[in-house]
Amino acid sequence: MSEVYSASVTAPVNIATLKYWGKRDTKLNLPTNSSISVTLDQAHLRTLTTVSTGPQYLASKLYLNGHEETLNKPRLVAVLMTLKELRKEVEAKDPTLPKFSDWNLLIVSENNFPTAAGLASSAAGLAAFVTAIAKLYQLPQSFSEISKIARQGSGSACRSLFGGFVAWEMGELADGSDSKAVEVAPKSHWPDIKAAILVVSADKKDTSSTSGMQITVNTSDLFQYRIKEVVPKRFVDMKDAILKKDFNAFADMTIKDSNSFHAVCLDSTPPIFYMNDTSKSIIKLVNLINDQSIANGEGLIAAYTYDAGPNAVIYYEAKNEVKILSTLYKYFGELPGWEALDDALLAGVKSVEGPI
Ligand code: DP6
Repeated sequence: MSEVYSASVTAPVNIATLKYWGKRDTKLNLPTNSSISVTLDQAHLRTLTTVSTGPQYLASKLYLNGHEETLNKPRLVAVLMTLKELRKEVEAKDPTLPKFSDWNLLIVSENNFPTAAGLASSAAGLAAFVTAIAKLYQLPQSFSEISKIARQGSGSACRSLFGGFVAWEMGELADGSDSKAVEVAPKSHWPDIKAAILVVSADKKDTSSTSGMQITVNTSDLFQYRIKEVVPKRFVDMKDAILKKDFNAFADMTIKDSNSFHAVCLDSTPPIFYMNDTSKSIIKLVNLINDQSIANGEGLIAAYTYDAGPNAVIYYEAKNEVKILSTLYKYFGELPGWEALDDALLAGVKSVEGPI
């Protein structure tokens, strides 16, 4: 009988409200600024990954949504090497354990949403990839420690290890040992925050985040102002707004940061466009919704944000749901992936029991 060991996890998508855009070290994947995100409901957006290993596996293989993908990418190679090293430490402490570190892996991943369309698929994907292997390997490290490995795979992935409101502290050290994700507040702290996602297009984006941010780092003057003058203060203020449950302040900074991120993309040479005309119409409508609520003395009630793609994520409080969703639906109800999330914030990575 051949031996097979397996582990499964699901990892959620996170959508940044303070964007990570720029690397100071491309090899270790260290960012030029700290960032903040909200983790979304796994019922709608998640990666399910099952990883198995056994002495009879002839090669390591990765399948994403039923298609074989190469594992021969520098960042995946680095992540796998780090995880194997940690497994070796576990095996050295208990020599009775099977020698997983010598065996190949079969990694099978599936997203329940469009891949690479600006819905943070790489974040959920890499978070699931790393945590599934960490679970299989029974690594003792904390989630923050494991987040550093996920960060090497894809920066935003480190934030998908936690639920609720999450910060990625950029760190200062050259070896990246202080560049990790931490929880700002759990879902239970502010449970009535919800998110609507308007899938404007499910096509793959033209410019990947990885190459787009390097173009910006190398060519945009505005970018220097963003990372030095804008983001450090916003990082402190946004955490504060979350802790105080101050939606007006949270929405104001979320909107401004999305605009700032797309502005540095436009300031790059060649310019990078992630939003399309439909994205811009959604922005106008959200502004009208907010203008009206400001006139009623309620402050901002809807916060839009766009990642490296045209799809809108709109955060709001449950008490304003009917007002916001009915207006959005009236104008954009025909979008194919129109979806309101019932329960936007959920716990981070989950273990899934059962055979593969
Ligand atoms: C716009 O994490 O995908 O979504 O580290 O190169 O894999 P790599 O980039 P990635 O970039 C995400 C960019 C963003 C903003 C964010 O999620 O903070």
